Amino acid sequence: MLTWDDYHQEDSMAATAAPEPAVVAAAAAAQEVVTAPEPAVAEPAPAEPSPQAMQAAEAVIANMDASAGVEELEMGASRLSVDEKAMINCRADLNQLVPFKYDWAWQKYLDGCANHWMPQEINMTADVATWKSSDGLSEDERRIVMRSLGYFSTADSLVANNLVLGIYRLITNPECRQYLLRQAFEEAIHTHAYQYCIESLGMDEGEIFNMYREVPSVAKKAAWSLSHTHELSDPNFSTGTIEADQQLLRNLIGFYGVTEGIFFYCGFTQILSMGRRNKMTGVAEQFQYILRDESMHLNFGIDVINQIKLENPHLWTEDFKEEVTQMILEGTALEIEYARDTMPRGVLGMNAAMMEEYLHFIANRRLNQLGLSEQFPGVQNPFPWMSEIMDLRKEKNFFETRVIEYQTGGALSWD
Ligand SMILES: [Fe+2]
Ligand SMILES: [Fe+2]
Repeated sequence: MLTWDDYHQEDSMAATAAPEPAVVAAAAAAQEVVTAPEPAVAEPAPAEPSPQAMQAAEAVIANMDASAGVEELEMGASRLSVDEKAMINCRADLNQLVPFKYDWAWQKYLDGCANHWMPQEINMTADVATWKSSDGLSEDERRIVMRSLGYFSTADSLVANNLVLGIYRLITNPECRQYLLRQAFEEAIHTHAYQYCIESLGMDEGEIFNMYREVPSVAKKAAWSLSHTHELSDPNFSTGTIEADQQLLRNLIGFYGVTEGIFFYCGFTQILSMGRRNKMTGVAEQFQYILRDESMHLNFGIDVINQIKLENPHLWTEDFKEEVTQMILEGTALEIEYARDTMPRGVLGMNAAMMEEYLHFIANRRLNQLGLSEQFPGVQNPFPWMSEIMDLRKEKNFFETRVIEYQTGGALSWD
């Protein structure tokens, strides 16, 4: 496991440390067999462009006024106004961030940057000792750690690929794209965090990274998400018809509403419950920061979906609403199956039945956020402490394992 100190040490060793005696001896032996000094090699003089190349470059610049590249910029066109901006199928210039139309998207970009963190900042020492000791965790607790890392280590790559290869191109608004770029980097940090846990604990990487193809309850969730990305990640897919625009909405609901909005909740609750019991606090702290990011991804996605609905009410038909409700129910059923597989017995003060109730509560919440009717009337949240962990205003570490302030300059102040 590398720490920041190791990085600094490596840097300073390269610059100043004396070589090991064995290295000195080897170097001396190598010098003995050299019979003649190497001839000095002169530094090559920097090559100058040929006069022909310079003339060709000047000719291209002289002809630029008439070239397609400049025409594409629509020189002299009227300045961009807010009214021209739209979430999808927008024809206005996408290279101009301002004037903002969707302030909420820009604010979420700023909030995401203010909550920046890196996996190596979290101390994993106690977790390594717990994981390696024979009585540190019960078999059921070990299963939860393995399954969580197995599912999430590939799920976040799947989300990132869908963002970059599918959604980004089709959301035609610069401030939303700015947030999507931030989210894509956060997904990379999450995959990094899972890999960092797997490496620190000395787990079998092949077993963990292949779990989404080998363990049915993990595979079914991954397959469900993948089935909602195929059409969009085809480079020939484009929006502009009712069918295609609804397909984009299906993808957004499948990823933001179900994958990030339901599939993450059983594993997160289990690992965070472990941290609350003072076990695997490093892994739990990583998950805590990831969950905080994820709750922002989810809220951004819900805002995007609702804005598209507002601007394109013809897409939100009764049939489509029924289909979306069905998607949420499918996601909930898959997550309940995962809960049963990962908790064959009661563990960490919870069991599969409590998780089922929690997932019904979460499903109601997602349906509500999308403006749809709740499907599980009267259900309560059995884990109210989860909402507390997700609270973005809570900057201090929940588990008190460290006291670093995470809020990094969200706003500039000159006085
Ligand atoms: Fe993520
Ligand atoms: Fe995410």
